[in-house]
Parts: sequence; C-alpha cells; structure tokens
Amino acid sequence: MTVTLESLADEIRTALTSDPGPGGKDTVCKIVSKALLDKEFVAAHLKDRADGEHPREVLFEDPDLGFCICGHVYAGSAHGEPHDHGSSWAIYGQATGETEMTDWKIVKQGSDAQPKLVEKERTYTLVPGDAHFYDVGDVHSPSREAPVKLIRIEGANLDEVQRSNIKAA
Ligand SMILES: [Fe+2]
Repeated sequence: MTVTLESLADEIRTALTSDPGPGGKDTVCKIVSKALLDKEFVAAHLKDRADGEHPREVLFEDPDLGFCICGHVYAGSAHGEPHDHGSSWAIYGQATGETEMTDWKIVKQGSDAQPKLVEKERTYTLVPGDAHFYDVGDVHSPSREAPVKLIRIEGANLDEVQRSNIKAA
C-alpha cells in the first residue's frame, strides 16, 4: 500500500497549512485523487456495507486544523437533496462507482423563516479518481443509482455543522 491513512492525513495537513486558500484545497484534491486510485487503501478503509447500514465513518479527525477524512459507503442507490455544508468546505472523492452531481445557484437568499431558493446550474459525473472541491456555501446534490464508495474530506466534522435551509425554486 503506497497510501496510508497516516500519510494521507500528513499530506493534507501540510497542504492546508502551507496554503489555507483555494490553492491548498486544489492540492488536497490531487492528494485525495491518489488515495482514491490506491486499491489497497480503498479496500482497507472503505469496507462493504449491508443495505441500510449507516454509510458514514469518520476515519480521521485532525486535532489542530479540524479537518476530517471520512469514508462514505452506500450499498444501494442514494439521492441527496440540494444542500450546502454550513460553515465548512468539503471535497467529494469518488473511489468506486459513479456519482451524478448537480450544482445549484442561489436565486434568492433566505432568512430565519425562509429557505434559500436555488436553481439547477449544471450536472456532471464523478468517476473513480475524481475529487471535487465544494467551498463554503456551494449548493450541490449528489445522486447515485448503484453502490458507491467515497472518501470525503471535510473542513470540519460535518456531524457537528448546521446546514443552511435550502429549497429548489
Ligand atoms: Fe454535500
């Protein structure tokens, strides 16, 4: 195995420390892409799940920077509603299978009582080895017809992040 969880975490930490801006995220995408194509890494950390089993596992959480390396394994089809990740960015990395991803643009800002309204902007397919960066506030919706395995890097553990109230216009 050329990529280990430790080497992946170390490389991400170095990239985000040396460039906390968009350039650092771009480097993280390249680092993640390498891990996605490492069959031994994928076999070791993205174990098969039974249908209905919880898809998400936090594999690593950085105690200083707060970023997380997560494994997401869906045993069947999975269709997400348009959403953002609140105050966090995220990188979706496709290890196996395909994700049809849609980006949405905000056409009306929300308020405490009203959701943000969004419209479809573009749809594209993530295939094994693809790592795509979603900045804070980027609205997207993933759709998977068949089982997939993903590595997701989160700026902060999304289990603890409140998402925006979003609705398709
Ligand atoms: Fe997302």
